[in-house]
Amino acid sequence: MNSKAYMIEELSRLWPELEKTQIETGLEIPKDKKMGDFAFPCFRLAKTMRKAPNMIAQELKNKLEGETIFEKVEVVGPYLNMTIDKKWLAGFVLSQFDEAEKEGKAYGSSDEGNGKTVVLDYSSINVAKPFHIGHLRTTVIGNSLTRIHQFLGYNTFSINYLGDWGTQFGKMVVAYRKWGDEEMVKKDGIRYLVSLYVRFHQEAEKDPSLDDEARAAFTSMEHGDEEALSLWKYFIEISLKDVQKVYRVLDVKFDSYQGESYFWDKTDELIAQLQEKGLLQDSEGAKIVDLSDYNMPPCLILKKDGSTLYATRDIASAMYRKKTFDFYKNLYITGLEQNLHFDQWFRVVDMMGYDWAKDLVHIPYGLITLKDGKLSTRSGNVIWLEDLLNEAIAKTKAIMQEKNPNLENMDKVAEEVGVGAVVFHDLFNNRIKEVTFDWDEVLNFDGETGPYVQYTYARASSVLAKAGWNKEELHENADMSCLTDEYSQEVLKLIESFPGKVKEALSKYEPYIITRYTVALATAYNRFYHENAILSAEDKVRDARLKLTDVTTKVLKQGLYLIGVHAPEQM
Ligand code: ARG
Repeated sequence: MNSKAYMIEELSRLWPELEKTQIETGLEIPKDKKMGDFAFPCFRLAKTMRKAPNMIAQELKNKLEGETIFEKVEVVGPYLNMTIDKKWLAGFVLSQFDEAEKEGKAYGSSDEGNGKTVVLDYSSINVAKPFHIGHLRTTVIGNSLTRIHQFLGYNTFSINYLGDWGTQFGKMVVAYRKWGDEEMVKKDGIRYLVSLYVRFHQEAEKDPSLDDEARAAFTSMEHGDEEALSLWKYFIEISLKDVQKVYRVLDVKFDSYQGESYFWDKTDELIAQLQEKGLLQDSEGAKIVDLSDYNMPPCLILKKDGSTLYATRDIASAMYRKKTFDFYKNLYITGLEQNLHFDQWFRVVDMMGYDWAKDLVHIPYGLITLKDGKLSTRSGNVIWLEDLLNEAIAKTKAIMQEKNPNLENMDKVAEEVGVGAVVFHDLFNNRIKEVTFDWDEVLNFDGETGPYVQYTYARASSVLAKAGWNKEELHENADMSCLTDEYSQEVLKLIESFPGKVKEALSKYEPYIITRYTVALATAYNRFYHENAILSAEDKVRDARLKLTDVTTKVLKQGLYLIGVHAPEQM
């Protein structure tokens, strides 16, 4: 419960003549802080109570006499203005935190999602294609949304829906048969596979018969040709092994890698249902679902040769997920250029009469671009995610060697800070906004960045370490009236708002709400730290400030965790 909700409870107890909803809807937050934290207008009550508004306000005021929750209560015309007592607020916020800890629950977590399963489809890489910086966003947004859901009690199931089926694999098979070299695969992994694919296209320009060969190879895969399929499996294996490095440093885990190939031959039931429901139409030999009533181009279901498409496989896999998980929501995190694709097939599911169509959610995001290509490692004309992260780590290490050359575990910390900086930057704005990648901005230790928040966390942790602080002992001694200055109060209010921020981030599917929150809390803590002596203060004061420091570190760490960023103790 937050302090406002608590106050409303109190007011409805003290003002029995009013309905709780009258209090809830009536309360306003005055524009001018001097007027108090809350104002309650009484003119609406005048009619039913048959009294002048300012008399009502006066009577309500009298009933609040002696309540410790208020510092000041004042009648101003028809308004009752109330200022929350600062000492009371400090005690309240910190006790909310302690209560959660005592119950063994993380502060801000909840069980609202208990019993509900949310499927998250993200990262969803394409086999034998580059894992490039374009995939950064789906990966980190998906990871963050997974963690936020878990924090609020949901069961989650993360799927890396591999792009592992389609005619391009016919090309890969042909290319590998002609030019493949196992040693090169061992050495360069996906990059080598991609180079073969590039070579195929170059050669096919000169010799179009290669394309026919590729088509035949893919058809043979569809007919179960073992040799071609074993090459294809090999490509998947190489790709998955290669991307694990990136997933490891990003600390991203999947429950399944079941991708498109699993569904290409499991669409019979879907086709039968579409037919039965009269939704399938012929269009120049292909099968489509007409969506003109919804102002959309038709959704392609089967090609002329009877093969399935991206949308067909997505519908089949959604039906499968519904059957398997009975999901509460099924989320898809992709670039916004796929908006139409999702709008189309979600509509088809709806037309099929499935009410769970409303639980399919596409979560789109804007493009990521580089401010200055020069600053990045390039191989060919794509920027591999692995290179970008390695560069972030190297640049961070260089900064640390200058700032803190004796740091223990330098490599590990540089990895957590460098990668954290990239993730943080990616999750700093709302999803739809385009991200421009600029190293100076990403790694600025003083800006609104990951390193800044991590640094604040490390500094606060070192205050606690220096104090040799014992949590149990401290709480008894702490005197909350030491936390009434504006800097402490700002930190307290932010701590109080954390649970609400987490809920908001989930309901909007916007991790940036938490990212920005961590910056706000770090900034407020830094001000508090500069304005208030902690270790040198007298016992009671010191203990209260240490308590606030401890709670701040825990909330910062939790917030960072929810966006997929580590919080090293030292940096
Ligand atoms: N592999 C696709 C791509 O890279 C993304 C897949 C998204 N998930 C889905 N179920 N369609 O564009």
